[in-house]
Amino acid sequence: MTYEIERLSLHADGVTHGPEGTVHVAMALPGEVVEGEVIDGRIAQPKIVTPSHDRVKAPCPHYRSCGACSMQHASEAFTAEWKMDVVRQALTARNLPVPEMTIATSPLNSRRRATLSGRRTKKGTLVGFHARASDTVVEIPNCLILRPELLAAIPMLHEATAIAGSRKGEIAFTLTLSEAGLELAAQGGKDPDTAQFEALSGLARSHDLARLSWNGQVIAGRRPAIQQFGKAKVVPPPGAFLQATHHGEAVLTAFAKAAIGNAKKVADLFAGCGTFSLPLAELAEVHAVEGVAAMTEALDQGWRQSQGLHRVSTEARDLFRRPLLPDELAKFDAVVIDPPRAGAQAQIAEIATSKLKRLIHVSCNPVTFARDAETLIAAGFTLDKLLVVDQFRFSAHVELAALFTR
Ligand SMILES: C[S@@+](CC[C@H](N)C(=O)[O-])C[C@H]1O[C@@H](n2cnc3c(N)ncnc32)[C@H](O)[C@@H]1O
Repeated sequence: MTYEIERLSLHADGVTHGPEGTVHVAMALPGEVVEGEVIDGRIAQPKIVTPSHDRVKAPCPHYRSCGACSMQHASEAFTAEWKMDVVRQALTARNLPVPEMTIATSPLNSRRRATLSGRRTKKGTLVGFHARASDTVVEIPNCLILRPELLAAIPMLHEATAIAGSRKGEIAFTLTLSEAGLELAAQGGKDPDTAQFEALSGLARSHDLARLSWNGQVIAGRRPAIQQFGKAKVVPPPGAFLQATHHGEAVLTAFAKAAIGNAKKVADLFAGCGTFSLPLAELAEVHAVEGVAAMTEALDQGWRQSQGLHRVSTEARDLFRRPLLPDELAKFDAVVIDPPRAGAQAQIAEIATSKLKRLIHVSCNPVTFARDAETLIAAGFTLDKLLVVDQFRFSAHVELAALFTR
């Protein structure tokens, strides 16, 4: 039996309907006619009977096996339009107006921070990304998303896996490019014993890593793993959140700087290590609020050692449980908010009842963003600007920045 693909799901699967009900079809595009066995509502290995005009040959040699990318079979123009459409549909599903939007897509091989998996096997070691819908680790020496510095570190990750990995569990290796070279933050397995500690410390030396940590314990801190945020240099704690590409960070920062307008006092909520706070401090006083104290401490240090910035104050605070209240929000001319995927329901509810006039919402989840947008618009805000950002090229992940005013 053949099926015609109607649309893509949020995970970029083709969606169609048959006698079985809704059927998801791996790697199929809207308009395509496909054939294949439906198991549990899904065709995992479809035969494409009629291909879409938007179908292209996947540029990466690992695409068939590696599960990190899910859209390499679609043209760049299709993916860009689809990502904007995901945001459009999240808003229209709630009857919200959709402003003009544009998209900024990060270049190939630009991921400066990524988590790879390492596993010991009978024969040796495996390092790479997971296969599609599986915990098998796939080698990715010619990956098109990682920066060359991260790709060049894969042999070193094999060595680290051989030193401290096990056949029972997996190690999550977060590689981050810093101004001082590569940083490796490993999680998983047992904490290294003395011999492993020494071997890993030797590994950090021989591969000239800026820092190597294991389950949060710093094994080698050879140079400060500096990140430059505007005029400030910050040394984030091991494995701390950073925007995935320099391009994405620059685009989001430029959006926030333009969107605060003439604000003199700005709050940056879910501030991380100061990605936005420190560049914004070139224009205004900033109060940065973040849940992880080690991150606010890094931000504070970065600000103290910088020159020519307005004052930056920091606060470690759980914004899910203790959002800023309307009397606290009254101190600010603009607020920047960049919550995790779950969104910021409690904080948005307080903003809705406050007198705040200008909010910049950065989001990595269009669904929770649309929920927040509904609350804000019901409270008198208008959604003036929308920029979709594609830092996770070839994946179904969609990020955005929006300006709300009232
Ligand atoms: C998407 S990141 C953004 C960080 C920063 N704006 C940046 O661009 O680098 C979200 C941040 O929210 C923080 N976070 C998560 N849950 C939180 C909570 N309940 N209260 C405060 N901060 C939280 C995380 O530690 C993380 O730094």
